[in-house]
Amino acid sequence: MTLTQGLPVSTAARPAVELIGVKKHFTGRSRRAPKRVALDGFDLTVRPGEFLCLLGPSGCGKSTLLNMLAGFTQPDRGQVLTDGEPVTGPGPDRGVLFQTPMLFPWLTTLDNVLYGPRARHELTAETRRRAVELLETVGLADAHDAFPHELSGGMRHRAAFARVLVNRPRLLLMDEPFGALDAITRVAMQRFLLHLWQREQITIVFVTHDVEEAALLGDRVCVMSGSPGRARAVIEVDLPRPRSIEDTETLEFVQLKRRIREALEDDH
Ligand SMILES: Nc1ncnc2c1ncn2[C@@H]1O[C@H](COP(=O)(O)OP(=O)(O)OP(=O)(O)O)[C@@H](O)[C@H]1O
Ligand SMILES: [Mg+2]
Repeated sequence: MTLTQGLPVSTAARPAVELIGVKKHFTGRSRRAPKRVALDGFDLTVRPGEFLCLLGPSGCGKSTLLNMLAGFTQPDRGQVLTDGEPVTGPGPDRGVLFQTPMLFPWLTTLDNVLYGPRARHELTAETRRRAVELLETVGLADAHDAFPHELSGGMRHRAAFARVLVNRPRLLLMDEPFGALDAITRVAMQRFLLHLWQREQITIVFVTHDVEEAALLGDRVCVMSGSPGRARAVIEVDLPRPRSIEDTETLEFVQLKRRIREALEDDH
C-alpha cells in the first residue's frame, strides 16, 4: 500500500468536510407565508486539520450550514459529508460550540465535562484523567466543583470547550462563539483556541461576523452571499503562524482584511 506520512493515501486525501450543491428552504408557520430559501447550490470542501472561517451577512445561512454539519438538520438537496460519510445525525465526533456556552446549571464544572462520556457509558479512568487535564489546560483547575452560575462568561466558555474536547472530536463547529464577549476576553479566547487547535489537530469550521477575527484565525475564509446563501469567494490567508493580535497591525493583514471586505461587499 502506498503511504503518505504513515497514512494510506485514501485516508490522507479525504476531505474533512464536503458540502456539495446544498439546498435548504424553510416554510413559515402559516400556509400563506412565503417559502424562504436559506441556501442554494452551496459548495465547500474543508481539508483535514484546516481552520475554516465562514463569514457572511446576517441571515445568509451560516448557522443553517453548521446545524447540517452537526446533524441537527438535513439538506433538501445536495450532500453533507464529514470524513467522506454522509451526516445522518449528531455524534461525538463533531463538537458544537455556540455563542452562549451550553452547560447544565445543576452540574459542577467537572460533571459538565464528564456528561457526554457518562451518558454514552464510556466513563473510564482515562476519560476522567483527560477531563481533569483539559480543565487544567483551559485554566479551570480550581473550578472543578463550581457550578456554572459561579463562573464568569469567559470561564463558562472555557468549560464548554473542555466539555466538547473530552469527546476527542475530529471536527469542531463554532457558531460565533466569542460574539458576546468583551474585547479583552475575546482576544484571550482567540489565543486559547489557536493553541488548542494546534495541540489537538482538529478541523474547525468557525462562523463569525467579524472580518478581523476571520483573518486572524483562519487558514481560509469562505465569504458567503445572502438570499439564498452561497459561497461567494474562498480567500487563502497566507499569513505565517503562530499569529497574535499584534499581527493585525501589519500591512499584509490590513490588505487581507480589505480583500475580504471587498468580497463581502461585492454584489455581483
Ligand atoms: N428553523 C427555522 N425556521 C424558519 N426559518 C429559518 C429557520 N432557521 C433559519 N431560518 C431562516 O434561514 C435563513 C438563514 O438563517 P441562519 O440562521 O442560518 O442565518 P445566519 O447566517 O446564521 O444569520 P446570523 O448571522 O444572523 O446568525 C434566514 O432567513 C432565517 O430566517
Ligand atoms: Mg447564525
